[in-house]
Amino acid sequence: MRRPVDPDPRPALVLRRAVLEDVPRVVEIERDGFAHPWSRELLERELDHAWSHTLLALEPDAGRGERVLGYIVFWLVHDEVHVLNVATALEARRRGVGRALMDAAEEAGRLRGARLSTLEVRRSNAPAIALYVRLGYRQVGVRPNYYAEEREDAIVMVKQLP
Ligand SMILES: CC(C)(COP(=O)(O)OP(=O)(O)OC[C@H]1O[C@@H](n2cnc3c(N)ncnc32)[C@H](O)[C@@H]1OP(=O)(O)O)[C@@H](O)C(=O)NCCC(=O)NCCS
Repeated sequence: MRRPVDPDPRPALVLRRAVLEDVPRVVEIERDGFAHPWSRELLERELDHAWSHTLLALEPDAGRGERVLGYIVFWLVHDEVHVLNVATALEARRRGVGRALMDAAEEAGRLRGARLSTLEVRRSNAPAIALYVRLGYRQVGVRPNYYAEEREDAIVMVKQLP
């Protein structure tokens, strides 16, 4: 008898730019993901800046429309991508959502001639650092006490875009 085939745990992801109506769901994921979440106002302001891009990862949800599983906010400035924020909903972690969002930001940069992607991450944020290292980012510096509330250092990471 043949073994039943395991269903693929990775969701079929669709990526698109966020619009104002998406902000409440982004705030929800943000609150679950960070001790100091971005406010609704801050997220809305990012949508207005020409250089800022907010992408969503969505799972098509048969019969119920789409479900936002994660998002990334990045700036395209000169020849650099600057990743400001990336988060995956708690229930969708370790299913490739963060990776897909980072790949999409880098691809958007590449299409506009970016040669470098940069970001800052809390020294204690092991999951995020693991994601970035996996994607080819390397540590190039430390900003001491960058996160003032906890006096926590930021690790500065960069990746040359191929
Ligand atoms: C960091 C974060 C965005 C990762 O998102 P994710 O969708 O779970 O990541 P992915 O499934 O795409 O992971 C891709 C790879 O990154 C690494 N990785 C991701 N999370 C990890 C974890 N918790 N521990 C170790 N490695 C991890 C693994 O190499 C993983 O590949 P694998 O699952 O095949 O082993 C998510 O943990 C999150 O939202 N954290 C809270 C918000 C946050 O801290 N954002 C970063 C701000 S700088």
